[in-house]
Amino acid sequence: MTNAELILEAKKAREHAYVPYSHHSVGAALVTKSGKIYYGCNVESASYSPTNCAERTAFFTAVCDGEREFEKIAVVGGMEGTDGNAPCAPCGVCRQVMMEFCDPENFKIVLANGEDRQLEFTLKELLPLGFGPANLET
Ligand code: THU
Repeated sequence: MTNAELILEAKKAREHAYVPYSHHSVGAALVTKSGKIYYGCNVESASYSPTNCAERTAFFTAVCDGEREFEKIAVVGGMEGTDGNAPCAPCGVCRQVMMEFCDPENFKIVLANGEDRQLEFTLKELLPLGFGPANLET
């Protein structure tokens, strides 16, 4: 699947975002190494802090389905009513969750960057010197 196609999948997931407080909707499409796609949207809460970002929704859904090896994720977002074509980069917490399951040198994060244009980063580029499972190996 191309990055452009994956962005379209993330836009589909964004349609399910539950954002009555921020009105900022986000969608994610996460590709496993076996080629499956898992979807995520942000889900907010009246008490605010339980809010789950789109990226983590996608990761936790995939892990719950037995998946632990990932290739790339596309993320789109913006205020409700916008087209989602402006870059919406993952928050720090979501980058840390990616660090738990992904090889920072190889896992790719794809963002929309205008109509039919994309940006692509490695996890290492977005989380340099990240702390992860390898740091706890003896
Ligand atoms: N949000 C995401 O879903 N992903 C991110 O990486 C950044 C922020 C959500 C959380 C909250 O529902 C809304 O965007 C505004 O912060």
